[in-house]
Amino acid sequence: MQSMSLRALIDNERVPKHIAIIMDGNGRWAQEQGQDRLFGHFHGVASVRDIVEGSAELGVKYLTLYAFSTENWDRPAQEVTGLMELLVETIRKEVPVLNKNNIRLHVIGELSMLPDHAKNALQEAFDMTAQNTGLNLVLALSYSSRWELVNAVKKIAEDVKSNQLDPNNITQDTLQQYLSTSEFPDPELMIRTSGEYRISNFLLYQLAYAELYFTQTRWPDFKKENLYEAILDFQKRERRFGKTSGQILDGLTNN
Ligand code: IPE
Ligand code: IPE
Ligand code: MG
Repeated sequence: MQSMSLRALIDNERVPKHIAIIMDGNGRWAQEQGQDRLFGHFHGVASVRDIVEGSAELGVKYLTLYAFSTENWDRPAQEVTGLMELLVETIRKEVPVLNKNNIRLHVIGELSMLPDHAKNALQEAFDMTAQNTGLNLVLALSYSSRWELVNAVKKIAEDVKSNQLDPNNITQDTLQQYLSTSEFPDPELMIRTSGEYRISNFLLYQLAYAELYFTQTRWPDFKKENLYEAILDFQKRERRFGKTSGQILDGLTNN
């Protein structure tokens, strides 16, 4: 019965610049159909494609996708291996599509943990998309926020020790420069699929003022229309950043 797309209702001037997504529910989606969990991951790739395309069409500048957490290394070996193979295969296949759509690929996470063939495929994809100026697609791979923060503290300590950094000059901007997201603005909207109401070690620092959107939809069922629904919900919210509602409304009418 869905005849008109929600796309038409989106205010193009207020599309979030950076959307971050916890792509959850692949395993349950598969198991609900009596299939192996990897079958769910395989179908999750189609959603990635659809959401990347939908985001690029809307003019989103940054899309960060949580694809594999540090904690996910503790899953059964055959699931981890299957996921790594799927990753390499998908990246190899998608590079021409990324280029066609002017999309640049980035990765955040502890890449040294990845098998060599995955590291190589990623390096190739960075190099081949480095000139693109449209959507920045950031894959969080072998990523966890606590790993990132510990890593930042280590690097800051080293720079203090070698006199490149004065502790008195450390500001929020300094800390931000030591994070793996230093090149990206903070996400304005964070979406988690599949009905779990938690952050699971994702961008703890960067999500300080993000609007959070949770949906029951499992990741393999999450497509452009679902993204539009999340953006429309985001556009209905008042982002106060600690101020009062009155101040926000004044600010809008005064300029
Ligand atoms: C998300 O789906 C993908 C990864 C974490 C790699 P899950 O695999 O967590 O699916 P559920 O949560 O078990 O259903
Ligand atoms: C978070 O999902 C990580 C990714 C989506 C890659 P999980 O399924 O691993 O998170 P928990 O275990 O439910 O918190
Ligand atoms: Mg999960």
